[in-house]
Amino acid sequence: MAQKDKIRKLAHLKIGQDPANQDPLNLWDTLPINYLSLPDKDFDSLQTTTTFLNKTLSLPLIIGALTFPVDQKTRQLNNNLVRLAEEKKLAFNVGSQRIMVENNLDAEAKRLRRLAPTACILANFGAVQLNYGWGIEDARRCVDTLEADALVLHLNCLQELIQPEGHKNFKGLLQKIELLVKKISVPLIIKEVGMGIDPQTAKRLYDLGVYGIDVAGKGGTNWAKIEAGRRQDDWAVPFYTLGYSAPDLVKEISKFKPKDRILIASGGIRNGLHIAKALWLGADLASAAYPFLIAGQKGYSELVKLYNKLHWQYKVSLMVIKNGQNS
Ligand SMILES: Cc1cc2nc3c(=O)[nH]c(=O)nc-3n(C[C@H](O)[C@H](O)[C@H](O)COP(=O)(O)O)c2cc1C
Repeated sequence: MAQKDKIRKLAHLKIGQDPANQDPLNLWDTLPINYLSLPDKDFDSLQTTTTFLNKTLSLPLIIGALTFPVDQKTRQLNNNLVRLAEEKKLAFNVGSQRIMVENNLDAEAKRLRRLAPTACILANFGAVQLNYGWGIEDARRCVDTLEADALVLHLNCLQELIQPEGHKNFKGLLQKIELLVKKISVPLIIKEVGMGIDPQTAKRLYDLGVYGIDVAGKGGTNWAKIEAGRRQDDWAVPFYTLGYSAPDLVKEISKFKPKDRILIASGGIRNGLHIAKALWLGADLASAAYPFLIAGQKGYSELVKLYNKLHWQYKVSLMVIKNGQNS
């Protein structure tokens, strides 16, 4: 495996764990929501399940993309995450498979699927790869090795620009995404990585047949800060505040989202109340990356604790939020 790719991946994970690289203001916390004083509901009979890509999830939650297995530590992290997805019925988005394709690590993806034979698993790579030699065969390889239920492409323009070795040609990608939608056998989902997908772009993507938009907006992990941490200068500092509030994007995009498509809320989702707020605003599911990175590094039992907490918080939220799901 190219040493520089592995070093970059491991640096992202290390810097990404630092709480200093989270946005200072969590915009889900500050989003007001109506409290229901007298709910006509029984807590014990509240349902938290949802259907996503023909699979039943115990919570409307995707474990966000973090990393592909590149060494013993990231292999263990992925093992823990995919096991949680299988046992607790969450969806799991693997980290970018660029490193898999470029280094023939297909066996790692196949191993993850074997660990989670029934889980909802999403393949992942950066859309910009389509301008750097990747085509339909590479996309199919990402999907097939994981027997993935959908393919997620991430848009990470600001991140690539700040990264000295980043891929900086984003020209013509919309047309390439359109071609991929037509040729790939699974639904296509487009996400950002924390700066957000602007509503106009989301509309264009839905129009050309993309199944899902994951807003991945501001309020959580800040990729400008993470990449700035890998530079020797302060040039990227002004970009720390760039991007769209995740709740604002969900509110805006849900207004025109076609009925047969999905909208995923992410960027700063940290607890079950945040998940409920996201659905209350119009999202179909939420996704979180950072909390799973922190718990997943500590071990499987920490992930189960995190899951139980999120599940309880979500159920409490369903009970007391006016016009929330199931009300
Ligand atoms: C260490 C780290 C690595 C990530 N790697 C990927 C990746 O490979 N592919 C991807 O689509 N997003 C990746 N992301 C972005 C997350 O999936 C997510 O969109 C972003 O962190 C915002 O969510 P959060 O605030 O819950 O962390 C990564 C995030 C972190 C923290």
